[in-house]
Parts: sequence; C-alpha cells; structure tokens
Amino acid sequence: MNNKTLQDLYNDIGQPIVYFDSIDSTNDYAKKEINNLKDKTIILSDKQTAGKGRRGNEWESSKGTGICMSLVLKPDIYPTEGTKMTQIAAAAVCKAIRDLTGLNVLIKWPNDIVINSKKVCGILTEMSGELNKIRYIVIGIGVNVNTDEFSSNLKEKATSLYIEGNKKIDRKKLIVKILDEFEELYESFIEKLNLDDTLKVIRKHSAILGKEIRIIQGKKEKRAKAIEINRQGMLVIENENGNRELISSGQVSIRGEHRYI
Ligand code: BTN
Repeated sequence: MNNKTLQDLYNDIGQPIVYFDSIDSTNDYAKKEINNLKDKTIILSDKQTAGKGRRGNEWESSKGTGICMSLVLKPDIYPTEGTKMTQIAAAAVCKAIRDLTGLNVLIKWPNDIVINSKKVCGILTEMSGELNKIRYIVIGIGVNVNTDEFSSNLKEKATSLYIEGNKKIDRKKLIVKILDEFEELYESFIEKLNLDDTLKVIRKHSAILGKEIRIIQGKKEKRAKAIEINRQGMLVIENENGNRELISSGQVSIRGEHRYI
C-alpha cells in the first residue's frame, strides 16, 4: 500500500498523518488499524473506492477533487460524551470553509454542511468503548471541494465549493484550516467539558433552527419545528401537538419541509 507521512501537513491535532493515493474507506482503515494508531492520527486519501456515509449510504468522491479524511481520537471521556465529537467536527468544517471561501455555509444538524440548501460535506462518526471508557472515536469527514459535476441522482442535493464559489480551492489549505479549527474547539471541550464554544458556531450557522423540518427515523417520518440546540448538543423540537421533544443525533435524519433542507 502506498502510504507516506505528509510532513507539510503536520500540526498538533494531526500528528502523525497517514496518506493514501487510494483506499476503500479512511474510516474502515482507521478502525482496522486502531491498535497501531496513536491518539490524534489523521488518515487522508486522495480517493476512496468504498466510501461510507451514514445509515449505510455510499459516499462518492472522484480522485483528486475532494477531501476524504478520518481523525482518530482516544480521549479519556465517558462514551456518552462521544456523540458530541460530530458537532465539534461540523462546527470546525463550517468555520474553516467560511473563513477560506466567504461562502454562506450552514450546518444541517447534526452532521451535514450545506450551501444553498445542498450538501457540501458529510461527517460519519464511529465509536467503540465499554460502559465507562471510550476505546476510540473515528470521525470521518468528506468534503466536496473541486467537483465540477455530480451524477444525476446526486445533483439535486449535493454541491461543491467549486460549484458554489466558481473558484478552485487548495485542498491542503482547507485540510489544515479544518484541523486548526477542530483542534481549538476539541481542546476547549476537553478542558471545560462543555460544548459552549462549539454551540456558538452551530447555533449561529444553523440551517434548521426556527424552521419547519421533517424528522426521519427508520420508516417513520414526522413534521416539527426546530426550536433550539441544547447544551448537550441535542435538538429541541416542537411537534405537531405543540409539545417539545429532545432529539439525539444518532437516530435521525433531518429534511426541510419540501426538499433536502
Ligand atoms: C454522510 O454524510 O453520510 C457521511 C459521509 C462521510 C464521508 C467520509 S469521507 C472520509 C470518511 N471515510 C468514509 O468512508 N466515510 C467518511
């Protein structure tokens, strides 16, 4: 396997960085090799042949156009805190793309990044642990960077930074920016054991707060209004009977009232 460490991408959070020209899935590689990978290792691949999305979906990415990256974390926190990592990653990606491109990037809670109601980045967090100890968290981040066209089945709901901004983006610069933003929010979370800094970002740039949404859970679907994201990173909704409910990120998929968002 062609595998090298990219010195030029070195930073604190991504130490060391493992790079592939092509691999099935950076998340799967991280999980397979988890015992040999240090806390805060970054896995990057120029292409994935079997990229995975949430809920068993595929993640498509053509060679050289996107970012396919997994962060390996082995923090000393309770497993219940692990789900918050998705929110930290979403806030980091949102901030990084905003700063680098000036595009109006929003977060579709909990794990999609959208521009003009279309998805530009997805996050897949996979975790393993015992009752009171996390063994590992692998955060997979896929960003559509310089893709100029999507297949007909994706066109309606996917976009790229190039399509939205009409400018090719340096992927290395974006990776470094995402890792820097992630590091800041992650260290703040580990230090204070609260999500406050992340919450500021995900509330400010939410694609769903205040909107009518559909919540899809397995085969069930319900309409609701997205009211707020609470201090635990859970979504507070108002259901059709006017009652408030808490939705946790693991179980659901969110859509706009009529379209993707
Ligand atoms: C989703 O939106 O459903 C999540 C998509 C996550 C894609 C990334 S690309 C890097 C990492 N490796 C994978 O196989 N998936 C994640």
